[in-house]
Amino acid sequence: MLYNFPQHRSRRVRQSPWVRSLVQETDLTVRNLILPVFIVEGEGLKIPVDTMPGVYRYSIDQLLVHLDLVNGLGIPAVALFPKIETWLKNKEGGVALDPDGLVPRAVREIKKRFPELGVICDVALDPYTDHGQDGIPDDNGYLRNDATISQLVQMSQVLAQAGADVLAPSDMMDGRIGVIRNMLESQRMVNTMITSYAAKYASAFYSPFRDAVGSGSALGSSDKKQYQMSPLNGDEALREVAMDIKEGADMVMVKPGIPYLDIVRRVKDEFKYPTYVYHVSGEYAQLQAAAQAGYLDYDRVSMEIMQCFRRAGADGILTYCAMDIARRLSA
Ligand code: PBG
Repeated sequence: MLYNFPQHRSRRVRQSPWVRSLVQETDLTVRNLILPVFIVEGEGLKIPVDTMPGVYRYSIDQLLVHLDLVNGLGIPAVALFPKIETWLKNKEGGVALDPDGLVPRAVREIKKRFPELGVICDVALDPYTDHGQDGIPDDNGYLRNDATISQLVQMSQVLAQAGADVLAPSDMMDGRIGVIRNMLESQRMVNTMITSYAAKYASAFYSPFRDAVGSGSALGSSDKKQYQMSPLNGDEALREVAMDIKEGADMVMVKPGIPYLDIVRRVKDEFKYPTYVYHVSGEYAQLQAAAQAGYLDYDRVSMEIMQCFRRAGADGILTYCAMDIARRLSA
């Protein structure tokens, strides 16, 4: 009976590049990439982030030089994260509301120079607070949800007025999307988009980012478990996403990336909404460390990771690898 075996040979459609390309189910293009960038006050600065090889903090003038390359590669958008000077931080993170603060100034410069480049601004207080939490704590250290939101909505207004295309609340307070959306409507900034960090986990993978923005040392041994989600929960992510969509989010995000691909898939299947994934700092650092040790091939592994995000259902990927991937895709 050997001639009758097997009925299906899966390998037939893998035998050559042309047929492999015909059966390919998803693809990855530069259009799917968003580059997070760190900025600092000053001039002529390009300061390496120790825990993230190849990643720097730029002063605004240097940022513009850098963005020339980013833009030239066809990357559609960048996400800005500031490292605020320690002396400007306080309990309420009030500097986040300064219309002439580092981020609003950077946004204005970017939009002037690169009007076609999407600018996404994080909405959370952690770069601005002296305790490193994303909101305003009460005397027991519990973050005051509604007081934090009133701060975030003002911060959002400042960022939107500066020209941010997308506000990306990453704070995980309840109800903030609706309040920010109402503010945008009432201020007639109806085209400002909201990408909600809807399913954001309390993850140990964020520590290099916290070094980069200087919130890690402020945070010390505290964690964010009273507002970010437990890695043990999945259904809860769907409830979070449902709330944010109902409140007016245009796009939703899952974060971190690789360990949470099941959540990406569930969110995409359930809501069929523009879904983003954040390949976070610790995931990047892990890959860089392995590559530097000679254990992994950075180019091939980073490409595979991006392909897996797409297969899992992500429309877009925030990744520190964006420029490297863009270069390889166009090679
Ligand atoms: C701040 C914020 C964090 C990240 C993005 N926005 C850190 C945190 O919540 O502590 C993490 C990004 C990364 O690790 O690359 N709210």
